[in-house]
Amino acid sequence: MLNERTGEPAAYVSGYAGFFRREFAVDERVLIPRPETEHLIEDALAFLGALGSARVLDVGTGSGAIACTIACEIPDAVIEATDISADALSVARENAARLGVADRCAFTLADIARAGAPAFDVIVANLPYIPSADVPQKPDPVGFEPRVATDGGFDGLEQYRKLLAAAPRLVRAGALVLMEAAPPTMAALRALAESAFPGAAITVHRDYAGLDRYLRVATR
Ligand SMILES: C[S@@+](CC[C@H](N)C(=O)[O-])C[C@H]1O[C@@H](n2cnc3c(N)ncnc32)[C@H](O)[C@@H]1O
Repeated sequence: MLNERTGEPAAYVSGYAGFFRREFAVDERVLIPRPETEHLIEDALAFLGALGSARVLDVGTGSGAIACTIACEIPDAVIEATDISADALSVARENAARLGVADRCAFTLADIARAGAPAFDVIVANLPYIPSADVPQKPDPVGFEPRVATDGGFDGLEQYRKLLAAAPRLVRAGALVLMEAAPPTMAALRALAESAFPGAAITVHRDYAGLDRYLRVATR
């Protein structure tokens, strides 16, 4: 859905986007949350439901869609959410306040994670994953979204390399790490995850279109 004259996404025109049955404020400072990201939410909720209280890290929070949704769905969960965009964090904080979960969501300006972050039960990451050369330009609707939210570097995995270098010290034993990525990069992402988490149970999951969309790492 978009403005047919300019190509601008309708969510930026209206100022709102739906995600997992809730409405999120969005504007040109953040990526518009996508339906495929709801698969990661469902997976995280199933895992968290069995835990009770839990610590969750949302890396690259953007509008706060993942952080706020998990906080709304799991009342005992405490969420730490990071982004390298101060603009995005302002939008995320606004959404957390609107949804009444600001007291359980901490939004921090950080590259992947803040120093001294605790061990998390779950990490959910939807970092930028389009290879630089393939990032669409205006009037393609994706061209209206912030480049920092879409450009995943030369092979689309630049930010995931950073995350997987840090992730083993960011999780407790038996944690869950969920990473959304582009279908053609999934095999390479899996290889990175296998080397970061030897012995973990690693599986690839498809989206509504039947495309490989996220990697699930159940750590030992
Ligand atoms: C694809 S958007 C995802 C936004 C949101 N999580 C969602 O699913 O709708 C990626 C976000 O990651 C942020 N980002 C990019 N590199 C990052 C890094 N190294 N550390 C933390 N956040 C980063 C961008 O600013 C952007 O907000």
